[in-house]
Amino acid sequence: MNPVNHMAIIMDGNGRWGLKHRNSRNLGHKEGLKSVEMVMRYCIKKRIKFLTLYAFSTENWKRPLKERNYLFNLLEIYLKEKLEKINNEKIRIKIIGEKNFSKGLNKLLDFAEKKTIKNTKLQINLALNYGSKKELIYAFNKLKKRKGVTENDVNKSLYTKNIPDPEILVRTGNTQRLSNFLLWQIAYTEIFFEKKLWPDFKREDLNKIMKKFSKVKRNFGKI
Ligand code: IPE
Ligand code: IPE
Ligand code: MG
Repeated sequence: MNPVNHMAIIMDGNGRWGLKHRNSRNLGHKEGLKSVEMVMRYCIKKRIKFLTLYAFSTENWKRPLKERNYLFNLLEIYLKEKLEKINNEKIRIKIIGEKNFSKGLNKLLDFAEKKTIKNTKLQINLALNYGSKKELIYAFNKLKKRKGVTENDVNKSLYTKNIPDPEILVRTGNTQRLSNFLLWQIAYTEIFFEKKLWPDFKREDLNKIMKKFSKVKRNFGKI
């Protein structure tokens, strides 16, 4: 049995789901929240301690303003509505990425992080305005005056400092690429590409992934 301590997810396919069902990409983003809730409950049940969710990339700024605003609004409403419950369930929220949204949303994100900082049941790393290359550049700049930089020094200089590398990365939405997500951290992660769009992704699909993962021989270079 391979233990799972950290699962990371590229939640892709919302737009296509929305277009297919009601000709509205934004509807897909809203529906995607149900899958987020499902995964959160799943991780708690399976005692997975870290869940990293790719919610908005540094490249997603290229989307139309209307869609971006819809996404940020959705996040704001969700947090305002659910933060109390999240905190009561002992879930910690941590943002990875650079907070450069509206003043209101930046403040809310800071508040959510501070309020939940002591929680240990599950840590959700919400990747927002996250880009792996940007994160690495941030780390390199922090380390540029240091000599003999070690792997551990890099780990400690990333946004994901103190977060162990994920054992599992899932990407939904029938696309096989990483889209600038956790490039350093997934050096030895098992990757699962799922055909289903994010809002269609269900508990059974996660069960299947966990089952497959449990049977993988993780060599880490050995035989
Ligand atoms: C992923 O779904 C969610 C975000 C990037 C915010 P998409 O919006 O990329 O959905 P598709 O890939 O266009 O269907
Ligand atoms: C990746 O999805 C980013 C998130 C899920 C937040 P995208 O839909 O933005 O990725 P590309 O553009 O298809 O690579
Ligand atoms: Mg997409």
